[in-house]
Amino acid sequence: MLTLEDLRKDKDIEMLIQRADHYLENLGFTDHGTDHVEEVSSRCRMIAEKLNFTPEDIEIVSIAGYLHDIGNVTGRKHHSIAGSVMAFQLLREKYMDMESITKIVTAIANHDEYAGEVTDIYSAVLIIADKSDVRQTRVRVKDANEFDIHDRVNYAVRHSEVIVIEATKEIWLNLSIDTQSSNVMDYFEIFLKRMLMCKEATKKLGHVFHLKINDSVLY
Ligand SMILES: [Fe+2]
Ligand SMILES: [Fe+2]
Repeated sequence: MLTLEDLRKDKDIEMLIQRADHYLENLGFTDHGTDHVEEVSSRCRMIAEKLNFTPEDIEIVSIAGYLHDIGNVTGRKHHSIAGSVMAFQLLREKYMDMESITKIVTAIANHDEYAGEVTDIYSAVLIIADKSDVRQTRVRVKDANEFDIHDRVNYAVRHSEVIVIEATKEIWLNLSIDTQSSNVMDYFEIFLKRMLMCKEATKKLGHVFHLKINDSVLY
């Protein structure tokens, strides 16, 4: 079976990830490049392992995490759909089996909170992995006076961790936010929709979602 390691060695995919990120950089977005997709991919792997996915399914969600933002090379608005069509073609060219391809492209097509639906366990894992990757190092703007709300919130997040507790069927998103840089309301202004999607995704995985910010359990 095609593995994440095979795709990591592919120079064309590396270029695609860089160009997609470059497009967003020109629009003033936070980092969506190699750092982000590697982080999302490893979060996908960690979640899937904790949920006892099969080795094949662990590889599938790791690949979905790695490729999930390539569609940004065509524009932000429909990047999830564009990315899924592009991933279909890429994986087909590498002779991946059709069942695995469909799981990956469905997950990519549905990872965005504006158009996505949590339809299966693969899209559920990708959503939790992607929406939880909020951190200071994704901010590109150097001058804090020029931060927009996304920069402010990402900058303020010192730590963002997903914890899967199989015994009690819970998935926790634990955040440490520096309230000097951003207040918790800023966080909710841009993340409410994403958190609701995480809640739905967690339910699809047969678990209950919890959110903890600075040691306060908010949900
Ligand atoms: Fe995305
Ligand atoms: Fe993303």
